[in-house]
Amino acid sequence: MKFIKLSQTEDRMPTVGLGTWQAESNIVEYAVYRALELGYRHIDTAFNYNNEEAIGKAVTKWINDGKGSRSELFVTTKLPHVGNRASDVQKFVDLQLHRLGMSYIDLYLIHVPFTFKCDPKTLTPIVQTNGDYELDLSTDHVEIWKKLEECQQAGLIRNLGLSNFNEEQIENIIQNATFKPQVLQVELHAYFQQYKLRKYCAKHNIILTAYAPLGSPGAKEHFVKKYKYSPETFPDLLSLPEVQDMAVKYGKTPAQVMLHFLVQQKIVVIPKSTNAARLKENIEIYDFEIGKDDMERLIKLDKREKGRIFNFLFWRGVENHPEYPFKDLLD
Ligand code: A2P
Repeated sequence: MKFIKLSQTEDRMPTVGLGTWQAESNIVEYAVYRALELGYRHIDTAFNYNNEEAIGKAVTKWINDGKGSRSELFVTTKLPHVGNRASDVQKFVDLQLHRLGMSYIDLYLIHVPFTFKCDPKTLTPIVQTNGDYELDLSTDHVEIWKKLEECQQAGLIRNLGLSNFNEEQIENIIQNATFKPQVLQVELHAYFQQYKLRKYCAKHNIILTAYAPLGSPGAKEHFVKKYKYSPETFPDLLSLPEVQDMAVKYGKTPAQVMLHFLVQQKIVVIPKSTNAARLKENIEIYDFEIGKDDMERLIKLDKREKGRIFNFLFWRGVENHPEYPFKDLLD
């Protein structure tokens, strides 16, 4: 396992983590336990994934079975869109710690920059009869961040970061924060390499975590069926001839090539899998180096904005929120 040091706390973040979005709740506990046994030490979850409790159970069992200790792990979770207001921060942090069965979170991210109104019973967004989500327009990132800093000072959170924020939104936090964002988690893969944002993050010592590093092949069916996404939105990165060629050349699998391509550029990856063989595959990526020419071939795959898969428009009406981060896409 390799690590990246976070600039302010010097905590070490493993460069491969286990993604758990869309990890089926009935098998995630087993998958996380298996992942820990295979050597994963970084787990990425979120309030919205609805699996914090199962993940907590797996971690607790792993510790109680004498396999390792909490201090070896790096656990990331996120403040949900329904809790994106200063007055809700403490409530969600406490609830998530309770669900995880942990006394602290290694990295806590604001999941998205916009806010939905919250059904207090289910802690889910309120959706109008026409299908539009009820927006809470009062979002104030700096006030939220101050509350997160309080949670950090109280020892509940070790590091703070952002997810799905654009450059302007990150800059606003940086200008007003005492404890700067340490990590930015965004969609990032061979078709969507995010060069502009990466340059900005490098300037501010912000580590990037790539979600959907394999192009999220598992989400395709769900998004096409439920949200009427065009199937072409989901790239088949693992079948690309360049990737297939390199897999043969380096004696690795296409997924290992895609993951190493990012890790080699000091980007953290969080591939999701609940399959034992693929879990193993996705962590065995440190024993090869992609050559300069091959790196250039992979860099050329970038489709810039055309390669983006996720724009959140499946949450109907979200584009009307003043903090919707991808307004440029709507022009
Ligand atoms: P599964 O959980 O059945 O392994 P991403 O992290 O880009 O969103 O991709 C996750 C999707 O890719 C999941 O559907 C996962 O399915 C699949 N996947 C994960 N690892 C691999 C791999 N090594 N090879 C092929 N598909 C993979």
